[in-house]
Amino acid sequence: MEGKKYNWFRIASSAEELPLTDSGGLCEIHVNSKSVCLAKYNDKIFAFPAKCPHAGGYLSNGYIDVQGNIVCPLHRYKFNMTNGRNVSGEGYYLKIYPVEIRADGIYIGFEKGWFNV
Ligand code: FES
Repeated sequence: MEGKKYNWFRIASSAEELPLTDSGGLCEIHVNSKSVCLAKYNDKIFAFPAKCPHAGGYLSNGYIDVQGNIVCPLHRYKFNMTNGRNVSGEGYYLKIYPVEIRADGIYIGFEKGWFNV
């Protein structure tokens, strides 16, 4: 993320406010007209596009495996939630959005240039 510029959007005042399921720790939210999947794993929040880069499966309907990868519900491709690597080896890449916990809430960053803001 070094050198990249972001527009930051506040998505909640605390992690408890996010609609994450207790069982899977996943949810889909809409931020500035973009659909985003949020995931909670080991008390950390991760954010990435709602749809899988392979064929558009809704990642919030998938699950997080024991290594902390998001697993797509459609064809079970796996992605590292920190760097977006397709760890099951099909050659895709999942965009990862940075998440920051600040004093006044949780923020998600979109690279500048994606939106006219
Ligand atoms: S759509 Fe996600 S693995 Fe195919």
